[in-house]
Parts: sequence; C-alpha cells; structure tokens
Amino acid sequence: MEDLKKAPIGVFDSGVGGLTVAREIMRQLPDENIVYFGDTARLPYGSKSKDSIIRFSRQIIRFLQTRHVKAIVIACNTATAQALETVRQEFDTPIIGVIEPGARAAINETKNKKIGVAGTEGTILSQMYTRVIHEIEPEAEVMGKACPLFVPLVEEGFTKHHITEEVIDIYLREMKESEVDTMILGCTHYPLLRSAIIEYMGEGVRIVNPAYEAAMDLKKLLKEKNMNKEDGEFNRYEFYVSDAAAKFKQFANSVLPYNVETIHQVNIEEF
Ligand code: DGL
Repeated sequence: MEDLKKAPIGVFDSGVGGLTVAREIMRQLPDENIVYFGDTARLPYGSKSKDSIIRFSRQIIRFLQTRHVKAIVIACNTATAQALETVRQEFDTPIIGVIEPGARAAINETKNKKIGVAGTEGTILSQMYTRVIHEIEPEAEVMGKACPLFVPLVEEGFTKHHITEEVIDIYLREMKESEVDTMILGCTHYPLLRSAIIEYMGEGVRIVNPAYEAAMDLKKLLKEKNMNKEDGEFNRYEFYVSDAAAKFKQFANSVLPYNVETIHQVNIEEF
C-alpha cells in the first residue's frame, strides 16, 4: 500500500492546456507525484474524430501505466467528452475527467440557471456538458459555443494580444449579450485566456475553471481508495510530450509555480 501511495498521478492533455489542471493538483495535493503527458504532435484534439481521440487516449493511458501511475486525470475536455466513458471501461486504473467537476461547479455558481460553455468543437458537439448539467439540474439552460481558434492562440503564447481580443469578441459576443450569468471555461487551454475573457464578459458573469473542482475530486478519490500521499516528502514531477519539447518547456515554466528543467519526448504511436 505504501508503494501505491507513493505512485504518481498521470495527467494528460493534447498540449499545454492540462498544465492548468496540473497546477491546481500541485496546489491542492502538494505531496503527490505527477507524470504529465502533452500530446503536442497530434494537437489540436478539438477538431479530431471521436475514434481518433479514443485511440490517442488509449495510447497515452498505456504509456502512463508504464510510469506506474495510481490514478489518471484526463486534463482535457475534448478527451473527457469523447473518450472517458470508453477508457474507464477498458482500464483498471481509476480515471477522472474534467467535465463533471466543471458542470457541478457551474451549477453551484449560477443564480439564474443560465450557463454558457466555451469549448472545442469536439466538446461542444458532444453535448456532454449539457447532458451532465441537466442530470444535476434539469431546468438549467445551457448555451454552448465552439471557439476553435483559442487553442492555437494559447499554444502560440498570444494570451494578451489584440488578435486574441478580436477573436474573443467574435466567439463570445452572443454569450455576452445573452442572460448567461455563469460561463464554464470548457477547455483546459482557456484558463490561460482567463483575464482577457473576464474583462470581456464583464463583472456580471462568473467564470468557472473546472480544474479546481477536478483536483478536489481527485483528492476525494485518493482518500477513498487510501492511495493519498500526505507524507510531506519531496515530490517529483515528470513531463513528457510527443513533439516540440523545447517550446513546451518554455510554456510550462510560464504556467507552473516551479522550475521545469527536463521535458522528455516519447514516440506515443509505439504504445
Ligand atoms: N485542452 C483540450 C481541451 O480541454 C484540447 C484542446 C485541443 O487540443 O483542441 O479540450
């Protein structure tokens, strides 16, 4: 059991977006070890088919299992929407996604039950947020909006840029003009545009980042399974990508509250 407690948490995304979830896990579970995988060679996931996302997720989970992870967080809304159900049935390792935590957080925040969801095409078309929100609160109204250009803007580091502001206006104007009082950042890349989005949407709209709630769910799961590492010992973070390690490293160092020195590159197609 002690070995299992010390085993790392696997966290994955198509690229840097999942670092916003890893950051939250580091904050809330400071003793846990983490193995992060960013599928930078095959990004973006948002425009890919369900079959491809399931195949990518299986390969990444098989890779993470070689690192002996005790639990996995799919730190990607698209992969949660398209693959969580399938991979949960196929693998013994406990797997958490980000959509249910995000939906729950939004329901707790909204006063008028009108919730906006910004996400990738894959996430919005899957309607998974709407489904999960309605399971908890059948009367809620959900307005989804696919924002496909947000991911490349974030990956390019254009988090504060006039082009990003224009794109935000194009995608989010309808939501801003609607009665939505709570908006979910339904893609793990989007919290990196949080200040620009908050400024655009104005004070009347609460912005929900599912990462916080997802980290809470992970904490609960580890406790329930008696797998939580709370020994105050030095933790270890490992980072893997499928391409462009140097660029990822630069980005990771701007997002995470600690210095990332090494990024390993793996051929994910081998898994
Ligand atoms: N960050 C991911 C998500 O939460 C995927 C973005 C993408 O690769 O399109 O949906």
